[in-house]
Amino acid sequence: MQGTAIAQPNIALIKYWGKRDVERNLPAVGSISITLRELFTRMQVEFDKSLGTDTLLVNDTPDEKMLPRLANCLDRVAGADRPRARIVSTCNFPIAAGLASSASAFAAVTLAAAEAAGQSLTVDQLATLAGRASGSAARSAFGGFVELQNVDDGIRCRTIKEADDWPLSVVVAITEKGPKAVGSTEAMEICRQTSPFYSNWVEQQELDLDVARAAIASRDFEKLAVIAEHNCLKMHSIMWASRPPMVYWNAATMRCLQTVRQLQGQGIGVFFTIDAGPQVKAVCLPEQVGDVEAALRATDGVTDIMTTGLGEGARLEGDA
Ligand code: DP6
Repeated sequence: MQGTAIAQPNIALIKYWGKRDVERNLPAVGSISITLRELFTRMQVEFDKSLGTDTLLVNDTPDEKMLPRLANCLDRVAGADRPRARIVSTCNFPIAAGLASSASAFAAVTLAAAEAAGQSLTVDQLATLAGRASGSAARSAFGGFVELQNVDDGIRCRTIKEADDWPLSVVVAITEKGPKAVGSTEAMEICRQTSPFYSNWVEQQELDLDVARAAIASRDFEKLAVIAEHNCLKMHSIMWASRPPMVYWNAATMRCLQTVRQLQGQGIGVFFTIDAGPQVKAVCLPEQVGDVEAALRATDGVTDIMTTGLGEGARLEGDA
């Protein structure tokens, strides 16, 4: 009655923002992401009939906040009448600060829970179940460059290019470690209901996906850089124009963007993307990592740097 799985977070280059079905957590738009290699969440799930309640330890500390969402996820995998579970999570990067910690957590817990319940999931079932818990988690079922498409009754995720076929690097500039003020789930709904830019965002997403897909297919870094930055800034514009407005950036976030612009001015292949948090992810060609790291580390307000390549999809620990 036990299972352990590992999943890596993913960073969207064409973002998921907004839901078409809140109840089933179906996204309003397709998205394209890259799964990371060095950052990970490891989830161990043990069903135990003698337990009166579910428990969760995150990095050795009891965590009540994340438990209800994880428990719902276990219910979807193993049924609401399942035995209570002991969930132990280990994560090597800041949680809930815009580093896609929920993506790796839900992909890993879904897989671990299925194993603990004696089920074996196909990768499509894994993506669907993980996506019910957190939309971006569906993409962490897959490695490399991943596209999530809306299909009639749900979603379909696919690797559109393997990590080894275009080994980009990501330098994450940490500017603040605390959890974010408004979680993405709530923020997306505020945007959908109040932002004057939301409907344009949904309408234009297919065009951005087409451009990014073509750029990835032909490994055209310039083309991918332009569309990814555009899509990211468009997503943040929706938030800024919402009521209440939501600004996830701090002064150091802005300074990191200026650093990336300066690097681009020097002919360095790099672009930025930012999610629902103040960290900046600089995507670059592997040969540029040293320059990008040095410039971001020297940027005022950057407290930490993490560098990673592209990695694989969620897997059971025994299969790692
Ligand atoms: C900005 O997947 O966290 O990172 O489905 O409500 O759990 P829920 O949202 P979540 O949103 C991720 C938003 C994003 C963009 C992205 O990863 O595509």
